[in-house]
Amino acid sequence: MPIPPHDLADIQGLVKSGYGPLTEALSLLLRVKDAEAARAWLGGFHPTTMADLSAGKRIPAARHLALTAPGLSALGLADAVLEGFSPEFVGGMSADRARSRRLGDVGPNAPEAWAWGRAGEEPHALLMLFALPGRLPTLKAEVLTPAISAAFEITELPTAPLDGREPFGFVDGLSQPRVDWAGTRQPDTSEDLDYGNLISSGEFVLGYPNEYGLATRTPRLDPTGAPGLPRAADNPDKADLGRNGTYLVFRQLHQDVDGFWRFVDANGGLPLAEAMVGRRKDGRPLVATGQRPIRGVGPEPADVAANGFDFESDGEGLACPLTGHVRRANPRTGDQPGGNLGPIRTLAGMLGFGIERQPDTIASSRFHRLLRRGRKYGAGADTGLHFICLGASIARQFEFVQGAWLASAKFGGLTGEQDPLLGARQPFPEGHPTDGFRWPQADGPCRAFDGLPQFVTVRGGAYFFLPGVRALRYLASLS
Ligand code: HEM
Repeated sequence: MPIPPHDLADIQGLVKSGYGPLTEALSLLLRVKDAEAARAWLGGFHPTTMADLSAGKRIPAARHLALTAPGLSALGLADAVLEGFSPEFVGGMSADRARSRRLGDVGPNAPEAWAWGRAGEEPHALLMLFALPGRLPTLKAEVLTPAISAAFEITELPTAPLDGREPFGFVDGLSQPRVDWAGTRQPDTSEDLDYGNLISSGEFVLGYPNEYGLATRTPRLDPTGAPGLPRAADNPDKADLGRNGTYLVFRQLHQDVDGFWRFVDANGGLPLAEAMVGRRKDGRPLVATGQRPIRGVGPEPADVAANGFDFESDGEGLACPLTGHVRRANPRTGDQPGGNLGPIRTLAGMLGFGIERQPDTIASSRFHRLLRRGRKYGAGADTGLHFICLGASIARQFEFVQGAWLASAKFGGLTGEQDPLLGARQPFPEGHPTDGFRWPQADGPCRAFDGLPQFVTVRGGAYFFLPGVRALRYLASLS
């Protein structure tokens, strides 16, 4: 499928940037009080777009709006159109027990205990504000007008100023997929046998080809009823409500910083903490970098130093444990679990001649990449991450990473351990434990821990849709 040019004035700028220089941020959860007033407010809302950020423009502030499925309904979107969005978005993060179990939202993480986002009480919209240091109060005053207060109930979720570290103290925001905006790459060639970091734009914006070379499903309408909407790239007879939009996953993750360092100090000190995260506290990778060029990494030396690595040379996890957080979250294999074995061993493996491969619980990572846009919140005992990620498929991206890689007790051939940072540590229904952590040692036996405490607790969350600007205008015009 040829890549159509991206409609930069229609795509919200959050897809392009995490706004590093805009260190101050505020998220506002909105619930519609008065649908007509909400649509009128929406009609005058101008999100920051990719066009606003093009050619390295520096902006003092940014604003974005995303909506949940109940929010789209509250604005008057017909059920038949809503059904065109993905089932997990329509179903919501918290309404289905099976989904909660897969995501690890059990025990203290269960939605019933959340501060926000419980089934039936989901927010309708998420308004995100970003500003240069000292500018947030002005931006907030500009946005929080009587018109928005008349339309919505508003809950503020303040964030802490961005300083490049998450609350446990580790450098964060290092690894991101590089989006192939120029369409230089043809996915599914033999190049994909190796790990690459240049990912098709359709993985992060709806309406463009993804890593399968296909466009992800979007809600379609008769264009006569929606004249302002963009047309579907694969069917010009239809208006496309999803095009230029994407899904946004928001999880409020409380971090027990004291508990984390108490456990670490009692059991191995900083090297244990770094093994659990899978990077040094200052952000350096635990495995050697620069062993081979990686598409979508560099040429800047800082990028190569931070991201110029995969795990092919560390099959036993001696440098970075197999289940360290960053290794689970992005196992960095190519299309072949275990990496590119070369043509002869690949052929022998395909024919079944005894080539040892890593178990396929580690699937190719290019179908499961996330654009992370979160910020930390709070201080002292009440701190954590407002984890936010963007992707064109919640199921294949966020839910797969969270469910199959982070919350699963089986990963990389190991059992009985979840992500060492994020695990809820609840035994599975059959009684299997999930609270282990194995830390292989180069110079001795593997250190194995049982009874890892829970360090991160889910306090809220929801699935949102971050629409294109013309889709926002269409929603504002509903009656
Ligand atoms: C409180 C919770 C969390 C903490 C403290 C945390 C911490 C970190 C740290 C320190 C890094 C390394 C720095 C970087 O690459 O930017 C990282 C990377 C990453 N995390 Fe998390 N994280 C958390 C939750 C999550 C969740 C919920 C997900 C996904 C569902 C996730 C996915 C990732 C990914 C994809 C990477 C990059 C891996 C790579 O490409 O190397 N994290 N995280």
